[in-house]
Amino acid sequence: MEVVIVPDAGAAGELVAETMADLLRRKPDALLGVATGSTPLPVYRALAAKAAAGAVDTSRARICQLDEYVGLPAGHPESYRSVILREVVEPLGLDEARFLGPDGSAEDIRAACEKYEGELAAAGGVDLQLLGIGTDGHIGFNEPCSSLASRTRLKTLTRQTRADNARFFGGDIDQVPHHVITQGIGTILEARHLVLLATGEGKAEAVAQTVEGPLSALVPASALQMHPHATVVVDEAAASGLKLADYFRSAYETKPHWQKL
Ligand code: GLP
Repeated sequence: MEVVIVPDAGAAGELVAETMADLLRRKPDALLGVATGSTPLPVYRALAAKAAAGAVDTSRARICQLDEYVGLPAGHPESYRSVILREVVEPLGLDEARFLGPDGSAEDIRAACEKYEGELAAAGGVDLQLLGIGTDGHIGFNEPCSSLASRTRLKTLTRQTRADNARFFGGDIDQVPHHVITQGIGTILEARHLVLLATGEGKAEAVAQTVEGPLSALVPASALQMHPHATVVVDEAAASGLKLADYFRSAYETKPHWQKL
């Protein structure tokens, strides 16, 4: 696992956007797995700015969703499909047909999960999956004690995650759905490159457990330790709990340029 410590959220966004742009220059129809939440927004803005400036052609990029609420009506502004359309697909000028995601309003949720797994496989797998991290160490919506081999399925949110996400529902936890569809940890681990982004002191403990703690279902993000190409990009605040921070800094500073992320 590589840990890259950057000064702030803006620098993190620029670094990850440049990594995505570099991938699209090599593979214009790359499948980019995107995450919701506040943390990745600087990435999407920086990537859209690069596209607008002609630094990268994103017109053939494909986008796929990590997770989705269950039970919100289709088109609800806080459904993750709506969020990704608003924050990624539209700013990049992509046709909605290039955007894959699970149907959280389906009658048959199990079938919707299986369908989404099939679509990801048929698309050739995810080239780069961007991940945020919950304060409880979740990735996607894989809450603590999710199977490390799990596939896309229905999950029940913890109260802590519903409280964290209440800000998107007018501050009212009762409006936050209990159930979600999420790519499983086993599904996420199949992406060719995982990039976990965390900023702010509120993520410091989860980041420390992910990077330096034991591999444990109690900290779902620790599953990244099993991945051959996992990059953790953190700002100084999110890195503040890392014992090996100085080593990670010097390793990045002395890294051969050709290696990139
Ligand atoms: C939600 C999403 C996660 C995201 C997390 C953190 O739970 N399902 O994918 O990583 O929020 O969000 P934020 O970046 O806003 O802290």
